Amino acid sequence: MLEIRNLQKQFNRGTANEITAVDKLNFQAWRGEFIILVGSNGSGKSTLLNLIAGNLNADSGSIKLNGDEIVEYKEHERSRLIGRIFQNPLSGTSPDLSILENFRLAYLRDKCKSLRIGTGNDFREMISEKIRELNMGLEKKLDQEMGKLSGGQRQALTLLMSVFARPTLLLLDEPTAALDPKSSVQLMKLTEMLIQDNQITAILVTHNLKDALQYGNRILQMSEGKIIRDFDAESKKNLNLNELVSWF
Ligand SMILES: Nc1ncnc2c1ncn2[C@@H]1O[C@H](COP(=O)(O)OP(=O)(O)OP(=O)(O)O)[C@@H](O)[C@H]1O
Ligand SMILES: [Mg+2]
Repeated sequence: MLEIRNLQKQFNRGTANEITAVDKLNFQAWRGEFIILVGSNGSGKSTLLNLIAGNLNADSGSIKLNGDEIVEYKEHERSRLIGRIFQNPLSGTSPDLSILENFRLAYLRDKCKSLRIGTGNDFREMISEKIRELNMGLEKKLDQEMGKLSGGQRQALTLLMSVFARPTLLLLDEPTAALDPKSSVQLMKLTEMLIQDNQITAILVTHNLKDALQYGNRILQMSEGKIIRDFDAESKKNLNLNELVSWF
C-alpha cells in the first residue's frame, strides 16, 4: 500500500517565482489499484511522481510504501520498489545495448538473482517467451540494439522490463504521448494486463480523456498541487466523457 501524507514541494523558494507544485497532498493507494491521474498543465502531476520515485526531494511530508517510510530513501534505493515509464520512449533503457542485455540489467535490479542468470540460453529462452506475448515479433530481434527500435516497440519493452523487476509500484507519466494511435492502444492494453496479472499498484498520468475513462479503476484530478477529485471504480464507471471534459 502507498500512503502519502502532507507531501509538499516548492520550487524557487523565497523568490518572486516561488511555486508550490505539490501542496500538502494526501492520498492512499491499495495493492492492485490502477490509478489514472489527470490535471491541467502545471498542476503538479509529474512533480508528484518525481517525489514518489525520489528524483526530487520533498520539502516535507511522508511517503510510505508497504509501511516503510521511503521519503528519505535515495532514488536508487527506491528503484527496486518503483518502476517508471516516461513520456519519451528513449528514457528508461540503454540505446546501445541489445534488447536481451537491457532485460538482463532489469533482471539484475530485482533482488539478488545476479548469480543465477549469467549469459546462458535459459535466460534467452525465458525473455524470448515473455516478449513473444507482446505480439510485435520482437522475440526475433533479441540481439538488436534498443536504440534502433521504434518508439512504440521501445515503450512496450520498457514496460515489460519494469514489471519484470517486480515493482511494488509502477509510475507512468504520459507513456503514450509520443506514440501513434495503434501503438497507444497496444501499450494501454499491455499496461492494464500487466498491472492486473501482477497485482501492482500503478499511477498513470494522461491527457487523453478517452483513455482516462476506459482504463484504470480509480481516477484522481490534480489542480494547483492538490488532489481535487478522487473517484473510485464505481463512480468512475458512471463517469462520461462530457462530464470528464467539464472538469477542465
Ligand atoms: N524543476 C523545476 N523548477 C521550477 N519549477 C518547476 C520545476 N518542475 C516543475 N516546476 C513547476 O511546478 C509546477 C508543476 O509542474 P509539473 O511538471 O509537475 O506539472 P504537470 O502537471 O506534470 O504538467 P504537464 O501536464 O504539463 O506535464 C509548474 O508550475 C512547473 O512550472
Ligand atoms: Mg507532467
